Amino acid sequence: MKLGRSSRTLFRTALVAGLSVLLLALAGCAKEPTEMAKEEKFEAPSIPGYEAMTIPADNPLTAAKVELGKQLFYDKRLSGDNSRACYSCHMKENGLTDGKPTAIGAYEAKLPRSSPTLWNIGYHSKFYWDGRSDSLEKQAVAAWRGGNMGATAKDGHPSAEEICAKLNQIPGYKSQFQKVFHADASPDTVGKALAAFERTIVADKSNWVRFRGGDQSALSEEAKRGWTVFSEKAKCTNCHDGLLLTDQQFHNTGIGMDAEKPDVGRFTVSMAEKDTGAFMTPTLLDISKSAPYFHNGSVATLEEATDLMVKGGKKNKYLDTTNLKPAKLSKAETADLLAFLKALDVEYTVQEPKLP
Ligand code: HEC
Ligand code: HEC
Repeated sequence: MKLGRSSRTLFRTALVAGLSVLLLALAGCAKEPTEMAKEEKFEAPSIPGYEAMTIPADNPLTAAKVELGKQLFYDKRLSGDNSRACYSCHMKENGLTDGKPTAIGAYEAKLPRSSPTLWNIGYHSKFYWDGRSDSLEKQAVAAWRGGNMGATAKDGHPSAEEICAKLNQIPGYKSQFQKVFHADASPDTVGKALAAFERTIVADKSNWVRFRGGDQSALSEEAKRGWTVFSEKAKCTNCHDGLLLTDQQFHNTGIGMDAEKPDVGRFTVSMAEKDTGAFMTPTLLDISKSAPYFHNGSVATLEEATDLMVKGGKKNKYLDTTNLKPAKLSKAETADLLAFLKALDVEYTVQEPKLP
């Protein structure tokens, strides 16, 4: 193809512009290390119109750290017996849970509670059903050293340090840890990378977020009527509140209180009698996918779980009757409420990473 005079000038201008960009980029490489680190800073996905996430000063987000954390999150070699990754119990097809009533860890260890969803977990300040951990970094290492991942250093199972030694022999990991932390894999750096990735598990795309942002067409008429039942008549928002659909507080709704030895939940942390059998209000995002329900996985269907809540929970001495009151719903209102809950799916696009 022949170029006319004007296109030729245009072509030359473009060439000059392109070269300048290249030169600028090269100049960028020679910048001070601190400036480089700043450039690398990574903005976590955020929920439109929602407060910014608090990122701990000693674990800033960078793109390379998030990528490394994502690989670790999906890597079964982190577990004591190579059978489990974090992802094994927090899978997208199950709404970031595992589809089991209670979790089964490495070495087939039976765990006492159900795997919770991790949606918007970076916005939380307390972790676990009973809130016993106050940092994502510490939680990740605890899950790793505990029954979940089996790096317990007991009964012949390896320690987290021993697993780190293995990771450091994988060139692709060794170089990433050096690049991100200027250090080898250790429980500290692995915990930091995992937490950094978890802070990107943000439910920024959902019809719920669009609806709350003012888009009335984001929910069906039925689901919108269900939102009215949820927020006004049944007052589910007393606890499943705000954009995250959780007040991040602990309430006794009576689940599991009829067991011979009930799981006392928040009581083990606060030692306050009123917290007996209280658990953190879970978000309801992706709730249609995360059956079975509740901290003990005792309820198989969303219909049943909803019915139990509408009826005001299960009677026991510590039931939070201030926030949870029985509501009388018609058949139509119950159907609308369920339509609303089923409309809380999250659009998730993260692909499984390639492991080194
Ligand atoms: C065998 C299943 C299993 C594996 C593997 C697992 N988890 Fe979990 N996870 C759970 C269960 C069960 C809980 C709740 C435990 C409790 O509340 O006592 C939980 C809780 C959490 C929480 C707190 C959620 C909240 O709502 O507060 C986070 C964060 C988390 N896991 C991240 C991880 C990370 C990171 C890994 C990998 C190092 C991991 N999990 C591996 C089952 C698992
Ligand atoms: C008093 C606060 C409170 C109110 C009000 C409340 N919930 Fe909950 N909800 C909780 C807590 C706490 C849990 C977890 C209980 C457990 O597992 O022990 C929960 C769990 C659930 C679950 C299961 C979630 C999961 O991940 O397993 C569903 C579904 C649910 N609630 C729906 C509702 C609906 C619908 C309403 C209104 C009719 C409602 N809730 C009202 C506090 C509340």
